[in-house]
Amino acid sequence: MLLHWHGSALALLAFLVQSHAFDIVRDYSGESFFDKWDFYGNWDNLTLGDVWWLNATDAMSTGLASVNEAGHAIMKVDNTTNIPSMPLNQKRNSVRITSQDFYDYGSLWIIDLLHIPYGCSVWPAFWAKGSLWPNDGEIDIIEAINNMDHNQMALHTTTGCVHNASIPQLGANTNLDCGTGAGCVVAETQPNSYNSGFAAAGGGVWATQFDVSGI
Ligand SMILES: *[C@@H]1O[C@H](CO)[C@@H](O)[C@H](O)[C@H]1NC(C)=O
Ligand SMILES: *[C@@H]1O[C@H](CO)[C@@H](O)[C@H](O)[C@H]1NC(C)=O
Ligand SMILES: *[C@@H]1O[C@H](CO)[C@@H](O)[C@H](O)[C@H]1NC(C)=O
Ligand SMILES: *[C@@H]1O[C@H](CO)[C@@H](O)[C@H](O)[C@H]1NC(C)=O
Repeated sequence: MLLHWHGSALALLAFLVQSHAFDIVRDYSGESFFDKWDFYGNWDNLTLGDVWWLNATDAMSTGLASVNEAGHAIMKVDNTTNIPSMPLNQKRNSVRITSQDFYDYGSLWIIDLLHIPYGCSVWPAFWAKGSLWPNDGEIDIIEAINNMDHNQMALHTTTGCVHNASIPQLGANTNLDCGTGAGCVVAETQPNSYNSGFAAAGGGVWATQFDVSGI
C-alpha cells in the first residue's frame, strides 16, 4: 500500500480473514506509525510531478513526516520554501511511503484520516499495488487532484477487465474499462469525501476488502 500527498494525518489498520472473523495482523498508528514503511527517497520519476519525495532521514528532520503529541501521524508538503518557476522543473519536497508488507486475498485494509490536503497543486492518494506493478494492477482507494470536490476510486488492470455498470453502488461510474489509462473509476458523490467537506467533517474512514470474489 502506498500513501503520497502534500500534508495530512493518518492511521491505518490491516486485517486478515481468519475463520469468518478478522484478526488484526498489522496496526500502523501512534509513535510506531512509520516503522514498517519505505520512504521513496527520489524525485517523482513515475508521474513526473515537480516533487522530491524525501527519504526517511530528511522527511523526519524537516518535519514533513512526524507523529504529534496526540499520537497522530502527519505527512505534509514543504509549504514554506519559495520554489522558483524558472529554470523549469524545480522540485518541491513532499513524502511518499510504501508498506513493507504485502497483503493477500482475504485482507481488509482500513484507513482512518483526520485530514487530507486539498487545493490547487495537491494530489493526495492512498492506493495498493502488486509486487510487479504496474503489470499486476492497482487499486486506488483515495485519489483526488487539485480542486476536486469529491474523492474517486479506481482499478487499473491489463486489457479485458470491465466494471459492471449494473452493480449496486453508492458512487457514480465515470469510466468502466479498467484497462484504460484512467482505469475504471467510481466517483464518490458525497461532498464530505474530499476537500473542505472532508475537513469540516473532522475526517473519515475507508475500508477496502480485497478478496477472490471481488474488491
Ligand atoms: C525511480 O526511483 C526509484 C526510487 O529511487 C528507483 O528505485 C527507480 O529505479 C527509479 N526509476 C527510474 C525509471 O529511474
Ligand atoms: C537522503 O537524501 C539526501 C538528499 O538526497 C541524501 O543526501 C542523503 O544521503 C539521504 N540519506 C539516506 C540515509 O539515504
Ligand atoms: C503551511 O501548512 C501549515 C499546516 O501544516 C499551515 O498551518 C500553514 O499556514 C501553511 N503555511 C503557508 C505559508 O501556507
Ligand atoms: C452485472 O450486475 C448485475 C446486477 O448485480 C447482474 O445481474 C449481472 O449478472 C452482472 N453482469 C455480469 C456480466 O456479471
